[in-house]
Amino acid sequence: MNEFAVLSLLGVSALVAVFGYRKELRKSRDCCEALWEQQRRLSESEEAFRAFFEQHCVGFAITDENGRWLKVNDRLCEILGYEREELERLAWHELTPAECLREEMPHFESFLSPRSSNERCLEKQYIRKDGALVDVVVSTKILEPSTKHGVRLASTVHDVSDRKRLLNALAARASELVRHREAIITSMAVLSEFRDGETGEHIRRTKEYVLLLLERAYSDCPARFRGEWGYPREDFELIGSSAVLHDIGKVGVPDRILLKPGPLTPEEFDTIRTHPIIGSYALRKAETTLENAEFLKYAHEIVTYHHEKWDGTGYPYGLAGEAIPLSARIMAVADVYDALVTERLYKKAFPHEKAVDIIASESGSHFDPELVKVFLECAGEFRAISER
Ligand SMILES: [Fe+2]
Ligand SMILES: [Fe+2]
Repeated sequence: MNEFAVLSLLGVSALVAVFGYRKELRKSRDCCEALWEQQRRLSESEEAFRAFFEQHCVGFAITDENGRWLKVNDRLCEILGYEREELERLAWHELTPAECLREEMPHFESFLSPRSSNERCLEKQYIRKDGALVDVVVSTKILEPSTKHGVRLASTVHDVSDRKRLLNALAARASELVRHREAIITSMAVLSEFRDGETGEHIRRTKEYVLLLLERAYSDCPARFRGEWGYPREDFELIGSSAVLHDIGKVGVPDRILLKPGPLTPEEFDTIRTHPIIGSYALRKAETTLENAEFLKYAHEIVTYHHEKWDGTGYPYGLAGEAIPLSARIMAVADVYDALVTERLYKKAFPHEKAVDIIASESGSHFDPELVKVFLECAGEFRAISER
């Protein structure tokens, strides 16, 4: 090969090398730019996350699987009353009251097990640095994937103390109202009891029978006694309490008739039959006097209609079937059973079996047949109440 050819070859090789180098250079420059762009985006999102973490009105924390707070935001420090450096040396269980911890620890351990859901939310208390308890709602998520240092958990901590205080105040107010309601009902019942010459035991038992029938009708006869035909379960206690008022109208019946030991004349019996109307009138007066007398609704039904009969032959209005409110139909069974098995001025006590036979024989005439079925299923429990 002559020198020219060698030079030409060298020249071509040099050109190829230069072009190749420039291409590589361009590639690595593009690569650098992409990396810078990625870095820039990462810092931006880190900043956004940091701002979110720090400025949010909710407490945030990153913890390890031992519950140690690795990173907390200002709001969490504020909720717990600690400086950041102090809090980041503690674990959540060190600030959890002992009674809360006993319940929470097993849940936390199962939360970390591989099969569990990776999110949980619970309402709990923390002990602040000043010793006060703070009510919080903590939502925790296990961060995926776990780092080389182990599992990381992210939690939000909402301070719900104010909401809790408000709810407690409302609950206290509600229970105070219930106590007032009970006091009104009891005092009215005691008056009617004194007047009637019956013992407080009749009143106590009828309340228990009514509650028993309500519960059994609710659980054993779903279609008939639930939904629009029945009562909400939370009203059962009120219906039971209202039952004690059933004969309150007897305060308007003269002693010579009410306490007469022998059989009543038809006129005297007519006077006795006015007691549902008298009671109904008294309750209506109470309803108009009291601002919120919603609680007297069941008492009103029971007082007014407890002597109505399923076949329409009862009093005071001769209502029949489901036109008679359910509470009054239940009351009728309870009241008659108790009257049968106890001694009264005008009669001896019947044995339980005879009382059951009488009620069964009046199914569909005096009593709602479905309620008689319920009664027969729990007749043993009626007997237990009557013998207490
Ligand atoms: Fe009555
Ligand atoms: Fe009664």
